[in-house]
Amino acid sequence: MKERLEALRTEALQELERVDSPQRLSDLRVKYLGKKGALTEILRGMGALSAEERPVIGQVANDVRAAIEQVIEAKQAAFQQAETENRLRAETIDVTLPGKRPPSGAVHPLNKVAQEIEDIFIGLGYTIAEGPEVETDFYNFEALNLPKDHPARDMQDSFYITDEILMRTHTSPVQIRTMRAMDGKTPVKVICPGKVYRRDDDDATHSFQFNQIEGLVVGPNIRMSDLKGTLLQFVQLMFGRQAQIRLRPSFFPFTEPSAEVDVTCVQCGGHGCRMCKHTGWLEILGCGMVHPRVLEYGGYDPEKVSGFAFGMGVERIALLKYGIDDIRHFYTNDLRFLGQFVRMS
Ligand code: PHE
Repeated sequence: MKERLEALRTEALQELERVDSPQRLSDLRVKYLGKKGALTEILRGMGALSAEERPVIGQVANDVRAAIEQVIEAKQAAFQQAETENRLRAETIDVTLPGKRPPSGAVHPLNKVAQEIEDIFIGLGYTIAEGPEVETDFYNFEALNLPKDHPARDMQDSFYITDEILMRTHTSPVQIRTMRAMDGKTPVKVICPGKVYRRDDDDATHSFQFNQIEGLVVGPNIRMSDLKGTLLQFVQLMFGRQAQIRLRPSFFPFTEPSAEVDVTCVQCGGHGCRMCKHTGWLEILGCGMVHPRVLEYGGYDPEKVSGFAFGMGVERIALLKYGIDDIRHFYTNDLRFLGQFVRMS
């Protein structure tokens, strides 16, 4: 009987060792320790034992029961703990924690202003034309009435790659490319946004790379008054209905006549302040009537069509619009600066 008890112990402990679920554990408890279980089964034979044997076997039986119970309890505790841990892990939600706000990016102020300018002109019926930043001397200068050694080339110090290839100094070469692509058809009505490059030392108002938006209109009977009306419309949509413009005579080789355009000071409205150096006016762009020779280079007969063109620096417009004092803020990617534009529409 003793052997049977020992064998039962060994078998039970082995089975318990492999137990893998609380259900299986409870089945084994019934199997070994239950009222109709294996141990009870063996102990039924106790009656047949002698008075001396009985306490000895009783002792062994108790040990076996205790050993099995101990393992069952330990297993049960382990199952319970695992279950509690799982539940806690699944249920941990601290509703008092503040939410995590993902940092939100923003459109860069320069892109925002460029988009605004583009939208205004698209609203006026213009389409967008683009061209290469690495440009030929022909498109960047020659076809714009700036032959080699022309003194006006000094106005735009250039990064040359070879004698004939350079980084474009303005978006005006896109004028020529557009006109040629139109193959003599009218009207031409485009704006040309893009990066341009000049050999300037960077400071608060200069950068070796900046952004321009140029406009070009070509067709029969295009007049200076069309240019002026267009620019007034643009300025009022950009800076507000109260904004006024004035045109001052100027010079560009590719336009004749040429003008510099001022807008009433965005800060003081024209009364005079530090921003406008007490003149009431701020310079915002250059413009003029397309030079006959440039029309010819574009494939048009200056006797039949005329045109106007204007060009502005996006940085300059953005500086004025947002009252920023240093162009370098646009390029240094300081999040404290850029973050100010997150919620602006
Ligand atoms: N291309 C000129 C510049 O970059 C701007 C301009 C464009 C002036 C068109 C007149 C007409 O300085």
